[in-house]
Amino acid sequence: MAVPEVRTIGVVGLGAMGAGIAQLAVEAGYKTIGREVTDDLGAHAAERIAHFLQRKVDKERMSVDQREAALARLSLTCALDDLAECDLVIEAIVEDLDAKLGVFAELESIVRPDTILATNTSALSVTEIAAAVETPARVVGMHFFNPAPLMPLVEIVRAELSSDDAVEAAHAVGERMGKRPVRCHDTPGFVVNRVLIPLLNDCIRVLDEAHVSPEDLDVAMTSGAGWPMGPCTLVDLVGIDVHVHASEALYAKLREPRMAPPPRIVAMKSAGLLGRKSGRGFYRYD
Ligand code: 3HC
Repeated sequence: MAVPEVRTIGVVGLGAMGAGIAQLAVEAGYKTIGREVTDDLGAHAAERIAHFLQRKVDKERMSVDQREAALARLSLTCALDDLAECDLVIEAIVEDLDAKLGVFAELESIVRPDTILATNTSALSVTEIAAAVETPARVVGMHFFNPAPLMPLVEIVRAELSSDDAVEAAHAVGERMGKRPVRCHDTPGFVVNRVLIPLLNDCIRVLDEAHVSPEDLDVAMTSGAGWPMGPCTLVDLVGIDVHVHASEALYAKLREPRMAPPPRIVAMKSAGLLGRKSGRGFYRYD
């Protein structure tokens, strides 16, 4: 499948991940159209991007002119129709298969036949998402890591019917964003989450087994295993709901007990303790 040279990128869903991806896109020089469901959510994401770019200016990692030029490349919309001109659309909405199927089917009716469609899914099957469209050759996974502007990796996921051209185009975009893209096949959890999700679940189980506090577990893993961030801090950053969903999705596919979310974290999700985004998870955030 022939793919276009990527000049304009659409990002559907501007939560923490989508906003981070949109930030990377504008910094890399792409005209970027971000779509959220309300103007307020879109404005919130734009403020977040403007804030982090300002921090780069403050730290002399970017000039004022570069920041303004990057922000000028970003436009916001609530209408998927406005993504018609995009060469690549990256979906970063909630981890709900039906919701993603709906977005992909609608996108296909809007964009050009050669537009590449990527999903940032953490743990759903890219092949299942691609089944929503009539031309699955154009669909790939582009799995960024949280926080997307800081984490160097992007997994470029080849689904069953992805074309070589779509995979290579996504890889090239990842490189131009300054990332270290790795190519992989569409297996549950891809590369990192296949390893990281059960490992984090082990950490959460250790809280109760070893009667260790979240603070001390984080100290143990940063000071004793060299992790850049302790597991409780990390799960709070990723989002308790996102982590539980990824665990359930991996467990459903692989049936390994370590993949299943520990009851403690499922209870936190039910209680609305979602981590940083809700103001409370293992820790409190004011
Ligand atoms: N977006 C953009 N910029 C950000 C940001 C964000 N979300 N968060 C921070 N920054 C910028 C800020 O400007 C900050 O500087 P400031 O505080 O002076 O404003 C600057 O980045 C540096 O931030 P930190 O001082 O916090 O940077 P650190 O050196 O402490 O590193 C880290 C932060 C890179 C997040 C490091 O702690 C780390 O590597 N943690 C592990 C993260 C990880 O493992 N992520 C993967 C999670 S799994 C996942 O995402 C998969 C998914 O499918 C679930």
